[in-house]
Amino acid sequence: MKDVKGRVVLITGAGGGIGRLMALEFAKLGARLVLVDKDGKAAEESAAIARGVGVEARGFELDVTDRPAILALREVVRRDFGRVAVLVNNAGVVFGGPLTKTPWERHKLTYDVNVFGVVAFTHAFLDDMIAEPQAHLVNIASASGFIGLPFGSTYASSKWAVIGFSESVRQELLTDGHKHVKVTTVCPSYIATGMFEGVKGPLLTPILKPQVIVDKIMAAVKAERAWVLEPFMVKLTPLLRGVLPTSLFDWAGKLFGVSTSMMHWRGHNEPAAAAKATASVGASALPN
Ligand SMILES: NC(=O)c1ccc[n+]([C@@H]2O[C@H](COP(=O)([O-])OP(=O)(O)OC[C@H]3O[C@@H](n4cnc5c(N)ncnc54)[C@H](O)[C@@H]3O)[C@@H](O)[C@H]2O)c1
Repeated sequence: MKDVKGRVVLITGAGGGIGRLMALEFAKLGARLVLVDKDGKAAEESAAIARGVGVEARGFELDVTDRPAILALREVVRRDFGRVAVLVNNAGVVFGGPLTKTPWERHKLTYDVNVFGVVAFTHAFLDDMIAEPQAHLVNIASASGFIGLPFGSTYASSKWAVIGFSESVRQELLTDGHKHVKVTTVCPSYIATGMFEGVKGPLLTPILKPQVIVDKIMAAVKAERAWVLEPFMVKLTPLLRGVLPTSLFDWAGKLFGVSTSMMHWRGHNEPAAAAKATASVGASALPN
């Protein structure tokens, strides 16, 4: 979307990480911001930062897995802000660890937040966006949506789902004649926000600085590009997976350190002792 000045931008997971940085970038462009996070205090802090550059911004405490709350938010946004023109589905969680040693609740939460959160927000707000003269849907997926990610299988597969959903919605909008609603699917490798603390960046895939990927996302929105694949190796990944025999692709994944990158994942606030591939690990206070 070329010009977001005065338009309503809703970002989920805006209380920290790249969500907060994107909020600030949209604020600098003069957007009016609806900032959602399960951590209401953090969302309000982001809103205060945005207001600091002179735009209207409000933080909302909301869990993206809570559909009634999303529908209630839509009413508040319609009343106080008007129709959403840009929706950034950014909220996400990850729980690393061996599949069967990781508690079921963490696998389920990963899908609930990363997949159904994205679907629920899009389902709730897309009609309003279509009613706008110009609109843009940004879905934050991941490079892991193109590959297998050992010790992060439900995270990676949730991002495969986001890519499939995002690409389907993009094509549906085109097919339905809503060319004025653009869709961008964002697939970064590891970013230094703390979400993947402890991971080892694969060869030729440096851990991205948050501002670097945010600048790429903002540029893609402005240029109305359908994809952001960063860093460069991520652009090659779908091609390599398509042309290489599986055994060779597996060999390359091992050589480059993709298949072992999650072995020492700690995430936010996880004690270093959890950095064992044999232990169940997680960033939240969920029961084991
Ligand atoms: N950090 C990475 O290496 C990386 C790589 C690729 C993709 N991504 C994706 O980028 C997005 C942002 O990640 P980040 O690195 O900024 O992470 P982060 O953990 O710093 O920020 C995520 C934000 O989402 C919020 N959130 C989590 N669950 C929520 C819920 N149920 N409801 C509402 N808010 C919720 C958190 O409170 C937090 O503020 C995520 O979708 C993530 O999967 C991250």
